[in-house]
Amino acid sequence: MDVGIIGGTGPLGRGLAVRLAAAGHRVLLGSRDAERAEGICAELRQSAGGALAAGSLRGVANADAALPDMVVLATPWEGALDTVAELAGALQGSTVVSVGNALVRHGREAHAVVPPRGSVAAMVQAALPGSRVVAAGQHLPARSLADLSRPFEADVLVCADDADARQDVCDLLCTVDGLRPVAAGSLAQAAAIEAFTAVLVTVNMGHRAHSTLHLAGMTLPVHGDGRPSGAAAGGGSGPAGGTGAPAGGGRRP
Ligand SMILES: NC(=O)c1ccc[n+]([C@@H]2O[C@H](COP(=O)([O-])OP(=O)(O)OC[C@H]3O[C@@H](n4cnc5c(N)ncnc54)[C@H](OP(=O)(O)O)[C@@H]3O)[C@@H](O)[C@H]2O)c1
Repeated sequence: MDVGIIGGTGPLGRGLAVRLAAAGHRVLLGSRDAERAEGICAELRQSAGGALAAGSLRGVANADAALPDMVVLATPWEGALDTVAELAGALQGSTVVSVGNALVRHGREAHAVVPPRGSVAAMVQAALPGSRVVAAGQHLPARSLADLSRPFEADVLVCADDADARQDVCDLLCTVDGLRPVAAGSLAQAAAIEAFTAVLVTVNMGHRAHSTLHLAGMTLPVHGDGRPSGAAAGGGSGPAGGTGAPAGGGRRP
């Protein structure tokens, strides 16, 4: 699948880019400066040491990263609205994955702040009425994600008002070794999901750790077993919501 990453030059964008490229996707890593993006891709290819297929990772301008049907918005949340306003035409009809957290640093803690409409994802959805915004990936530790030499496991909460888009993102995440997407309802859940990141960041700073989320006690359907992976936690308008099937989807390697 082609995946664009707007603001892909930061730690989170780089981490997602290498994991998705290693999983066989074609990633367009975007920047406000295409040359900077290509330079960073060259570094990532080199540190991946042959794990990435030729052509799987390209540095481009954000306008080009906005062209695929699946686009990750990985700018800081403060820059998200201006960024998507410029790219709204290209993003029309696309699935836009919002990874943003609205956080401020207070000494050794991160605190959540409430963005307009309660979450970064809801703010982006309001700015992009013609796109299907999905919130996912807020709890991923970028540094661990970017290091392909180490095994990495994380549950990824995925919420959206459009159940098909939510499922598409779960299906994409399922292709990345170690990631287990968990469908978490409608976009209203993004407020709590994003705010919880402040707790996780504070724990990680206090314990010098790179911990992430792992939900205990859930046996999820294995991706590809014929059941609707990742789409059963309700919310949204698509046919998969509220089917009564087990929540979430994905695999654990
Ligand atoms: N870092 C993490 O561990 C982590 C984990 C989960 C989620 N997140 C979320 O993921 C997003 C990216 O995190 P990050 O740490 O990678 O961010 P970052 O390094 O601060 O920013 C990512 C990229 O966005 C571009 N950018 C910076 N300011 C911008 C602005 N005002 N308008 C448009 N583009 C701008 C820059 O790229 P160019 O200069 O090349 O355009 C920058 O390299 C954030 O929303 C964050 O909350 C981060």
